[in-house]
Amino acid sequence: MHVLIINGSPRIKEYSNTDKILEKFIKGMCENGTTYEQFEVSDLKQWDKIREAYYNNSKILIALPLYVECIPGLLLEFLETLKPKNDGTGMAFILQSGFAEGIQLRCGEAYLKILAQKLGCEYLGTLVKGDNFSIRFFEGEQRDKVTDPYTEMGREYSINGDFSSEACRRFTGPEVLPAHIRFIVGLLQKTLAKKMFKKIAEDWGCTKEIDYRPYQ
Ligand SMILES: Cc1cc2nc3c(=O)[nH]c(=O)nc-3n(C[C@H](O)[C@H](O)[C@H](O)COP(=O)(O)O)c2cc1C
Repeated sequence: MHVLIINGSPRIKEYSNTDKILEKFIKGMCENGTTYEQFEVSDLKQWDKIREAYYNNSKILIALPLYVECIPGLLLEFLETLKPKNDGTGMAFILQSGFAEGIQLRCGEAYLKILAQKLGCEYLGTLVKGDNFSIRFFEGEQRDKVTDPYTEMGREYSINGDFSSEACRRFTGPEVLPAHIRFIVGLLQKTLAKKMFKKIAEDWGCTKEIDYRPYQ
């Protein structure tokens, strides 16, 4: 199997969490001889090449971060330049995000299913997982702890050719965090995080309170 992989993050490769996830995913995917080519939507100079590869490949995997509860605008802009294929091409997605709860990625997942159909491709599932904010701030073992689980998912994908297995479904983790964790996170938001954001706002020259609501 040969797979066209497109990193749909607007962040350049060096700083992209999606790229670090793909690195581990590809390690598992290639163990049984699967080959791939990878492109980055963030590099506008690659767009012609990605388009060409899109028309010439029958297995496409788009990996993307959730940005403001949906797919990044730059990726959408690129996708709008593509024509539907209608030739049996299979399209799968890796959808990842900062916040941990699976539930907040479900709307994006539903959109990606429609997207594959609009592009005239067979939808081969979406690997859904959050809790990835820290990847770019970590290095070494700490980063590996977050990204290593994707290697097993790469193996699953290369065996099945899609993300339909039970292991892929379980990979998402909890849809909603337990009540006590939500309580602690809420408390942190109202105290420490608020203080931190206030300081950032002041450093940027903001003179109003951060919960200032001029249009209320
Ligand atoms: C502008 C922006 C919007 C984001 N919106 C969300 C969001 O709605 N939900 C979420 O869980 N994470 C959100 N994130 C976090 C990213 O999904 C997360 O950090 C991801 O791993 C970034 O991948 P990348 O570095 O490849 O772009 C957002 C990040 C940015 C920069």
